[in-house]
Amino acid sequence: MKDNFNREIRYIRISLTELCNFRCRYCMPEEGICKKRHEDMMTEEEMLSAVKVATRLGINKIRLTGGEPLVKKNIVDIVSKIREIDGVDEICLTTNGSYLSKYAKDLKVAGLDRINISLDTLDKDKFRYITRIGNLDDTLEGIDAALKENFKKVKINTVLIGGFNDDEIVDIASLTFKQNTDVRFIELMPMYDGGDFGKEAFVPYSKVIDKIKEAYKGKYDDDKIIEKVSGDNSSVAKLYKISGAKACIGLISPVSNHFCAECNRIRLTADGKLKPCLHSSCEISIKGLSEAEMIEKFREAILSKPEKHDVLSYKSRSKARRNMNEIGG
Ligand code: GTP
Ligand code: 5AD
Ligand code: SF4
Repeated sequence: MKDNFNREIRYIRISLTELCNFRCRYCMPEEGICKKRHEDMMTEEEMLSAVKVATRLGINKIRLTGGEPLVKKNIVDIVSKIREIDGVDEICLTTNGSYLSKYAKDLKVAGLDRINISLDTLDKDKFRYITRIGNLDDTLEGIDAALKENFKKVKINTVLIGGFNDDEIVDIASLTFKQNTDVRFIELMPMYDGGDFGKEAFVPYSKVIDKIKEAYKGKYDDDKIIEKVSGDNSSVAKLYKISGAKACIGLISPVSNHFCAECNRIRLTADGKLKPCLHSSCEISIKGLSEAEMIEKFREAILSKPEKHDVLSYKSRSKARRNMNEIGG
């Protein structure tokens, strides 16, 4: 179905839980979250009904997010049930990777197509700092486990944070030589709770290109070091490749160059709210509704998609009134 700005909506991001075994500083507060009441969260049946309704409106790409979707004990079963729904072309997952060594094989068998894994640093201590709890080795083992299963695609997501990982841009980018994972650098989005980040934490995506050009200067002709490549149109990342690499560098620039004009997605939160836009406070509840009632709410949500979100900066935070773990990214 098209929205009011002629954008075909084909992609839904479904958050399965607000809970996470990490506490990333840009995503949720240190004390974790105030767990909502069980009866206020979407049931599995409601979530599956929402997928069926979405496919009836032409949505064919499903991404499971969180919090951390793999803290759901029945995640493999959820993927197999979504796989059985007619009209679902692609099932994707965004995860912190820490449980992937346990689940990668079963998820592949259940029909998961693609996985995006968060990895903000290659340093053990910095990893512990940014996630407040996590172990780098668990995530690295998770990435290896995913790579062994031959998913259609495994991508790494790195949130760029000035003074934290801007000195690692070249090292993280060089993973694209070692393994077949695209590496996507994401501009930090200032959400409801700003975490510990001020103005200096924001790094524009252009810095990635500059750092890579600087690091490989003299090795290739200047205009051949990193080149633009065309890729999946449904993705928010601009794709590049470093000369000789196996995989791509993706640049996701929600702050310095938003991609609202190409937006093809809506979101469903773990508490059953359709969100037409990541950065708007507009929410439409589908909790407790029949499929017939849900389809009307889906239409309403798609038609309420704003043309674009307001400018984001550390002074002008997202209007979503939720932290990232309560939305799913
Ligand atoms: P692909 O399907 O592989 O392209 O994944 P994706 O980029 O849609 O999903 P992923 O969960 O890996 O998200 C990567 C980053 O993009 C996260 O930081 C998301 O918050 C951000 N992102 C995804 N969709 C949007 C969007 O519509 N608007 C904005 N501003 N950011 C988004
Ligand atoms: N800004 C940018 N990206 C974020 N993510 C979580 N919070 C933020 C934020 N404030 C990323 C995670 C994950 C994806 C779902 O969103 O790192 O890769
Ligand atoms: Fe958990 Fe992902 Fe948020 Fe980190 S970014 S706390 S891993 S949901």
